[in-house]
Amino acid sequence: MSDLKSLFEPRGVAVIGASHNTRKIGYRVVDNIVKGGYKGGIFPVNPKAGRIAGVDASRSINEVIGEVDVAVIAVPAVHVLDAVKNCARKHVEHLVIITSGFSEIGNNEEEREIVNFARDHGMRVLGPNIFGLYSGRVSLNATFGPSDITKGSVSIVTQSGAIGIAMIGKTAYEGIGLSSVISVGNKADLDEADLVEHLMHDDDTRAILMYLEGVREGERMVSVLEQAARTKPVVAIKSGRSARGAAAAASHTGSLAGSDEVFDGIMKQCGVMRAETIEEALDWCAFLSRAPEPKNDNTVIITNGGGVGVLAADASEKYGVHLYDDASVLHDAFGANVPDFGSTKNPVDLTGAATAKDYDSSLSTALNDPRIGAVICLGCETAVFDAKQFTDVVKKKYADFARTKPVVFSLVGGAAIEQGITTLRQNGVPAFSDVNDAVSCMGVLFGHRRFMRQPVKDPERVPLDVQIIGSVIASVKGDGRNFMLANEARQVMEAAGIALPESLVAKNFGAAVEAARGIGYPVVMKIVSRDIIHKSDAGGIALNIENDDEVVDAFESISRNCKEHVPNAHIDGIEIAKQVPKGIETIVGARRDPSFGPIVMFGLGGVYVEIMKDVAFRAYPLSRAETMSMMGETRSYPLLLGARGDERKDIETVTDVILRLGTIVKECPEIADIEINPLVVYDQGEGAKAIDVRILLSQNESKG
Ligand code: COA
Repeated sequence: MSDLKSLFEPRGVAVIGASHNTRKIGYRVVDNIVKGGYKGGIFPVNPKAGRIAGVDASRSINEVIGEVDVAVIAVPAVHVLDAVKNCARKHVEHLVIITSGFSEIGNNEEEREIVNFARDHGMRVLGPNIFGLYSGRVSLNATFGPSDITKGSVSIVTQSGAIGIAMIGKTAYEGIGLSSVISVGNKADLDEADLVEHLMHDDDTRAILMYLEGVREGERMVSVLEQAARTKPVVAIKSGRSARGAAAAASHTGSLAGSDEVFDGIMKQCGVMRAETIEEALDWCAFLSRAPEPKNDNTVIITNGGGVGVLAADASEKYGVHLYDDASVLHDAFGANVPDFGSTKNPVDLTGAATAKDYDSSLSTALNDPRIGAVICLGCETAVFDAKQFTDVVKKKYADFARTKPVVFSLVGGAAIEQGITTLRQNGVPAFSDVNDAVSCMGVLFGHRRFMRQPVKDPERVPLDVQIIGSVIASVKGDGRNFMLANEARQVMEAAGIALPESLVAKNFGAAVEAARGIGYPVVMKIVSRDIIHKSDAGGIALNIENDDEVVDAFESISRNCKEHVPNAHIDGIEIAKQVPKGIETIVGARRDPSFGPIVMFGLGGVYVEIMKDVAFRAYPLSRAETMSMMGETRSYPLLLGARGDERKDIETVTDVILRLGTIVKECPEIADIEINPLVVYDQGEGAKAIDVRILLSQNESKG
């Protein structure tokens, strides 16, 4: 673990490129440090010396008298390396390089040279291409962003500078307190994983928000995030969801924006909550950083309108909030608060006649009843609903709830209500105009709580005969190919203990008939050719072959079709395989993701995967339980559980196959991609069969 203590709690900070010009970045940084109230040494460095933002400047960092743990660098790119060399002489520990003009515009070499020099001289680099760093612990605002930052307990790690600066402004307006803000920019040295690893041990930080565009060193990121989410809530927003967004993100940061579905699955695996928008992420973090620990999961909705009550109940289901449904307890608790024409069932409906006083007493009831763990309080504007009085009650009640029980508010109405929401939010009350926004906050609180309670799942290790796989790879490479033929893929599957239907490759009619008789009818026949990857498109597959004559006919037609489809195709033979009985067709795979390294995939085969893209991903290694969670995320998973009175399928075997594929990709770096489509799954205890296996080697490896 990198020690970043002195980055967040430096004894002194130098600003190299501090400017006399109040409009320049180098001036803004010094001014922010001074205004922020940082008590350590502040050392502006400028060739003309003089005074900058009221502080004496030095001509060079080497003239500074005092300890400098952090140097902020804001000189043009061509001067950065020299500045870094000077910092080494001064024994600086951390460089915060604001300057742009490095890898984000293709200037990788200079960036690498700077980082290598820094690392060789015991310095770590934040950036380059960043807006700086804020550390609430020592009131250090070493950014050129807003000078007004509210201190609190949310930490923000952001890859985008503009969004980071905007988030500082928004948090200040909304009264959301920050414990730190770190701009990571090009991540030439320190990246999100390093920072999250520090922040998870930081007592001032109660929630971490990450804004990501691309992920590098994903394997390390996964292990850090998994640990971090067990200590405190971590919320992520990642841009690049759409194909266009991904392209923009990639060109913006020079880093790879990984596939969105992969990112989504892996965040779930790590217990990281993914927000759709900046607003949502900030709302979640503000709530998570302030809400007390719920004593139990029983949540009660209190409302004056049936409609919003139902909306909140729907949202509760969507966001995993458990609504308390013990009717007699609820009647007992709220009977005195609810008129006869209302309802004490959850949602507790105080009816449109409810006044601020009624809310006051119902909220007191919910607060004082130990059987209730959390409260969602909704208010619709009515004739008797006085927005001002209601806001006052909410403010007062929230103060009572703040340390004991999580509560969120949603108020729907006109200008007075909207004004009330703004005031409440600025006072730290989780109040929203949209019911969903309120309920989603409660959902992430309980979601994180559930994640924390799960036992740590040990990754499953599967034994593998790597030697056999290695020799198959060598022969494929020797043949100048980067994909395996059916018989080669079969050898790999067998080495990994994955069951395939019995099969043989025949080169002529006679051998084909003999093979089919040996295997037993019915059989299927498939072309084996290095030049034909999509066998069915080429007419290279025949099913339901019942006898010797049909074998001969199929042999002829497959050979003819394939020669017509790919005239010069090299035909290695025709595979004769046992035709397996029908089962549930799944697709399983493993591949080396450019961001996250080995990953695994599961989906239901056929139309489900092609049309509905109903697949889920996880990073490998992973546990059996996590593999099952991945499968459970697909919409079609109930088919495996045995829908409509059907038998439960052999989910355990599917889990096993997925883990084995992950192991192959992890342990055989030359294998880039394996896909079994379909893996036909039978009833529980009866296993699964890999019908078609596609294995690709990584391009670089196969060229050699
Ligand atoms: N040591 C100390 N000070 C130096 C110096 C050195 N080696 N070389 C120059 N300076 C001083 C200059 O004299 C100047 O001070 P002055 O205005 O009082 O004369 C100051 O440093 C700034 O240098 P200047 O040449 O005026 O640069 P600049 O302010 O126009 O631009 C950057 C410098 C770093 C701001 C600019 O190169 C840059 O990268 N901008 C983009 C930053 C950004 O957007 N980052 C990402 C945000 S998300």
